Amino acid sequence: VLMNELAGLRVLEMKLRENLNLSEVIIVPGDSDEDPWIKSEMGKAAVMRLKQELTGNNVIAVTGGTTIAAVAEMMTPGNKDQDLLFVPARGGLGEKVENQANTICSTMAVKARGEYRLLHLPDQLSKETYLSLIEEPGVKEVMELIRSASIVIHGIGDAKTMANRRNSSSAVLEKLEHEKAVAEAFGYYFDHHGEVVHRVRTIGLQLNDLKNSDFIMAVAGGASKAEAIAAFMKHGPKKVLITDEGAANKLLASL
Ligand code: F6P
Repeated sequence: VLMNELAGLRVLEMKLRENLNLSEVIIVPGDSDEDPWIKSEMGKAAVMRLKQELTGNNVIAVTGGTTIAAVAEMMTPGNKDQDLLFVPARGGLGEKVENQANTICSTMAVKARGEYRLLHLPDQLSKETYLSLIEEPGVKEVMELIRSASIVIHGIGDAKTMANRRNSSSAVLEKLEHEKAVAEAFGYYFDHHGEVVHRVRTIGLQLNDLKNSDFIMAVAGGASKAEAIAAFMKHGPKKVLITDEGAANKLLASL
């Protein structure tokens, strides 16, 4: 039975990879909406896949969220001949401390026996503050590291869930509703065509910078994220997706 189930998952992976135009898909059994433990399984799969990608020198940018926090929990030490430097992909996006990119980044680095640099920034930045902060030497240095990241590990969320979790203003909530936002990643909100309809102004990796990375790995699962995953994946360069059966089945049913 187990063998058949695994063979079934491999078929699902192939179908998803083709339909979403991804470079690779890894599906773990279960649905993280129903069973939170499945997030750790995705975390484990993400760590295993990441390890295949590591070279002598690695700058790894990570986002926030509970799924990437689960990846951090599952991290294990790298080889002695591998330098690992972890950086947060973006500054504050309105998450609780344990789910912030900074926290996840330092946890991951400690577990991997690597190093880390952090971005200490408030969540909401006015244009003036933003423009002066990006000129700060300390911020500039970390920003350059972030932009040079060869590996990016990120989460994807449902637009409404994320806007509410961030206590977004009613003006933002209305805008997202009006623009029919379905997905969120890196502080950007997307409609179901994968077009950006709104973004949070914060320092760090911008969507355009992704084209400079060699390896982009999204980790997102649960049937409730199926639409969000499909929408975000319409947005440029090819990515690796680590997901679960719950999201994969729902995704394929809707294609
Ligand atoms: O806020 C950081 C972030 O990575 C978002 O970009 C993403 O939508 C969300 O977290 C995913 O969170 P979770 O893994 O908890 O669903």
